Amino acid sequence: AGLAAAGFAVMPLAACEAPNKLLQGSTGGSNPLAIPPLQVGRIEQGERVFRLSLTSGQKEFVAGVASPTIGIDAPYLGPTLEMRRGERVRFHIDNNLAEGATVHWHGFELPASADGGPHQLICPGERWSPSFEVRQRASLYWYHSHLHRRAGSQVYAGLAAPIYVRDDQEERLGLPSEYGIDDIPLIVQDRMIDGSGQLIYPSGMQARMMGVRGNRIYVNGTEDAVFDAATGQLRLRLLNGSNARFYDFSLEGGAPMQLIASDGGLLDRPHPVRSLRLAPGERAQIILDLAEGRPLRLVASSPDNMMGMMGGQGRGMMGGGMMGRGNDGDPSGGVFRILDIRPADTARSVRLPAELAPLGVPDPSLAVRTRRFVIDMGMMGGGMSINDAAMDMDVINERVPVGQWEIWEIANASMMAHPFHIHNTQFRVIERNGRAPPPLETGYKDTVVVNPREQVRVLVRFEENTDPDLPYMYHCHILEHEDAGMMGQFVVMNS
Ligand code: C2O
Ligand code: CU
Ligand code: CU
Repeated sequence: AGLAAAGFAVMPLAACEAPNKLLQGSTGGSNPLAIPPLQVGRIEQGERVFRLSLTSGQKEFVAGVASPTIGIDAPYLGPTLEMRRGERVRFHIDNNLAEGATVHWHGFELPASADGGPHQLICPGERWSPSFEVRQRASLYWYHSHLHRRAGSQVYAGLAAPIYVRDDQEERLGLPSEYGIDDIPLIVQDRMIDGSGQLIYPSGMQARMMGVRGNRIYVNGTEDAVFDAATGQLRLRLLNGSNARFYDFSLEGGAPMQLIASDGGLLDRPHPVRSLRLAPGERAQIILDLAEGRPLRLVASSPDNMMGMMGGQGRGMMGGGMMGRGNDGDPSGGVFRILDIRPADTARSVRLPAELAPLGVPDPSLAVRTRRFVIDMGMMGGGMSINDAAMDMDVINERVPVGQWEIWEIANASMMAHPFHIHNTQFRVIERNGRAPPPLETGYKDTVVVNPREQVRVLVRFEENTDPDLPYMYHCHILEHEDAGMMGQFVVMNS
C-alpha cells in the first residue's frame, strides 16, 4: 500500500548502494534555492486560520524524470506557516490524497486531539480542523505526516514543511528576520534516486535497520542549491527533515558560524561553532557574516551512525569509528554541498546582540520523579522497541501528571544512535553520560540524540492536558524506526 500504491518503485537498497560515492559526485551545476512560499493565514473571529490541502503531485528529482510525490498546496513539501506566540491558530486540512494521512505539529504544546499523531487520521476526502493556542517561543518548528507505520514513506514523498513562530521578545533583538531575504529555512533531506532518475523508497534490510538514506541531498527540494544574498548577515534555519541521515554541518574552510537557536528557540547568547550535528527532527539557527564579500559554502558530512556492527560493509556509511567521532578526518568520508551563498557587493557588517534570551540553568532538583526509557533494536533490527515494548495503538505506556517536573532518563541499548523526540513539550537537557551538554543542547529541545551506550537525562514538564484520555507520542525520529515500533504513548493526567 502507501507509496507502492502511489506508483513508487520499491527496490532493495542493495541494488543501488555506495550512497556517499554518489554524493561526492554531485558537484555539477547550481540551481537557485527554492524558498517555500510564506503563508500567514487569515484572521477570522480572533483566530489565525490556515487552509491547506494534501495533494499528490510530481517532482523532477533529476531533470526530465518525474517521480510521484506528496505535498501541501504544492507538488512536494509545502508552505512555511507563520504564526505568533500567544495567538490562536486553526487549520482546515483537506486530504485530497488517495490514502489516509495525518499532520503533526512538531515541537508544539497543544491538546492531544490537535497533535496530529497516529490517532488523528484524516481519511481520503475528509477535512481535519484542529485549533490551538501558540505557546511556543519564537523558533523554527515543522509539520509532517505521522501516519501509523507509514510516516517514513509519506514524509519521504514530501509531506513535511516548516513553521515559523514569531514573538515580541525575539523581535526586539533585531535579528535578521525578513523571510526569504535574510531569514531562510533550509529543509535538508537525502533521497535515493535510481539509475533512471526515479525517486525510490528502499525497503531492504539495511534500509529497515539504518533507516532510509539516500544518495542525493536536496535543500527545500533543490539539489546543488545556490542563494544570492542581498544583505551582510544571513540567518539560516536548518531543519534535518531526512528520514534517517545525521549531518555534521560546517562552512567549507572551517570558518565559524554563530549558533543562535535550537529546536525551541533562542539560546542564551550566540555561540561560535565550527561544526553542528543535527539528527532527523532537530533544528538549529545560525547567523553567517557575509560582509567580507567572499562566497561561502555550507557543507555537511554524515557521521558514522553505528558501531562496527555491520563489519566493513558500506564503507563511509558505517565503516570504522564510533558514533560521536564522526568521519570528518576520514578523507574518503563523503563531504557534500548543502548550499552555496553568493554575497552582495554592498553587504555591510552587522553586530549580533551579545545576549539573546535568558534561559537559566535547568534545575534537576525540581523533578518529582525519574522515568527511564531504554531504546533497543533487537536482533538485526527485529525488535525496535522502547522499554521492551513496540508501539501499540491500544496501549498507553506512560501516565504522566500534568504540571510536574520529571527527569526522563533515556538509555540506548543498541549499536546505533537514535534521536528521541517527545511530543507536547520543550525540554532541557541536563546531561549525557554525566557530562554537560554542548551549546546546541543548552536551550529548549524537543528531540535529543542518544548515542550507543549513552544515557541522556532531560528535565521535562507537560502543561497541556486538555484531552487527558488521548495519548501523545515519544519516539525515535528515524522514521523507519518509528514505523517499525520504536515509539510509545503517554497521557497527561489531571493531578
Ligand atoms: Cu516530528 Cu512525533 O514527530
Ligand atoms: Cu513531534
Ligand atoms: Cu532509532
